[in-house]
Amino acid sequence: MASDKNQCGAAGFMPEFRSFATDALHVGQEPEQWQSMAVVPPISLSTTFKQFGPGQHAGYEYSRSGNPTRNCLERAVAALDGAKHCVAVASGLAATMTIVHMLKARDGIVCMNDVYGGTNRYFKKIAAEIGYDISFVDCTKLELLKAAFKPNTKLLWIETPTNPTMKVVDIKACSEIAHEYNKDMIVVVDNTFMSAFFQRPLALGADICMYSATKYMNGHSDVVMGLISVIRDDLSEKLKYLQNALGAVPSPFDCYMCNRGLKTLQLRMRQHFKNAMAAAQFLEADPRVDKVIFPGLPSHPQHEVMKRQCTGCPGMITFYIKGKLEHATTFLKNLKLFTLAESLGGYESLAEHPAIMTHASVPEEVRVELGISDTLIRLSVGLEDEEDIIADLDQALAAAHEKK
Ligand SMILES: Cc1ncc(COP(=O)(O)O)c(C=O)c1O
Repeated sequence: MASDKNQCGAAGFMPEFRSFATDALHVGQEPEQWQSMAVVPPISLSTTFKQFGPGQHAGYEYSRSGNPTRNCLERAVAALDGAKHCVAVASGLAATMTIVHMLKARDGIVCMNDVYGGTNRYFKKIAAEIGYDISFVDCTKLELLKAAFKPNTKLLWIETPTNPTMKVVDIKACSEIAHEYNKDMIVVVDNTFMSAFFQRPLALGADICMYSATKYMNGHSDVVMGLISVIRDDLSEKLKYLQNALGAVPSPFDCYMCNRGLKTLQLRMRQHFKNAMAAAQFLEADPRVDKVIFPGLPSHPQHEVMKRQCTGCPGMITFYIKGKLEHATTFLKNLKLFTLAESLGGYESLAEHPAIMTHASVPEEVRVELGISDTLIRLSVGLEDEEDIIADLDQALAAAHEKK
């Protein structure tokens, strides 16, 4: 049962998931699992583990196949996703690679047409060359999605909200369509932008929930990591096998850091939402801005879907500054509190220019089609004081529009 509080102050969203903070603090963290009774999970650096006799071990053999610190993190994340199992890997892209390796060459993958640039590059330049049959479709248009499936389609890849144009995909509707077409189709949701606090894809019918934990899940811009959560035992078995067989595992130190980051996920996400809502409202009312895309605003085309499937919105805002490329670059160069840098989801506010930075690997014609234009700016609104965030945006807009 869900609790009815939504402490972010926004109306109409799903209630927050019950016992989220308690699970983040305690699941997988039991002191009794360590001989020392350590309250905080130790960083277990040993690459190998003593066996009582050949093949007789206490749960761990070799740190690639299993590690005690990694296990604490994986158990906590599984609980937060409403999953049964989680597999931690070395990066978000390692998670994508691991998932795709469950398929065979010539199997079909249908992917949302607006996804993180590195995901697009992996599918087009690596997976397609190996022989996977990749096609891209706008999953916000369900009739196009229905038409995209073929007898060899084994996997549907959704990202919502999309990066950077913030399209919101209806996870439940897409999962139903996919499973109606083929009950064995694997529906994957890249939940990086949302974190487990705002969205539970598995409860909406998806089979796999994956993250670049480099972003909100760790939340401190100091770890590169990927996470994959599932309910199904068969998928877990395959993913755990691939985690070991492909070998893209995270270090115990990074697992410790991410596990620590989860302890404040709830607090961080609530504040990201509040700050982003204030910044989005400020930008939307500003004449120096052409258009704001923030799923928490009623002006967002899929605002209703967002409210139906999420408990709130993260700190991600994209907007089109009025003018030309010159206005966008002057704005970005003049920000003082926001740092001009790639990535997102840390405690600090970041800003970037997708066409030149994160999405430069997306072919130009595709960028134009998706609306990733020269005036598009992406913000990751951090946890600074709201009035300082708004003052910084205001002065950078003023600099961009001065004497232009
Ligand atoms: C939505 C999304 N998915 C996946 C990735 C890839 O993650 P990583 O950089 O951890 O490999 C990113 C990175 O920016 C992302 O934004």
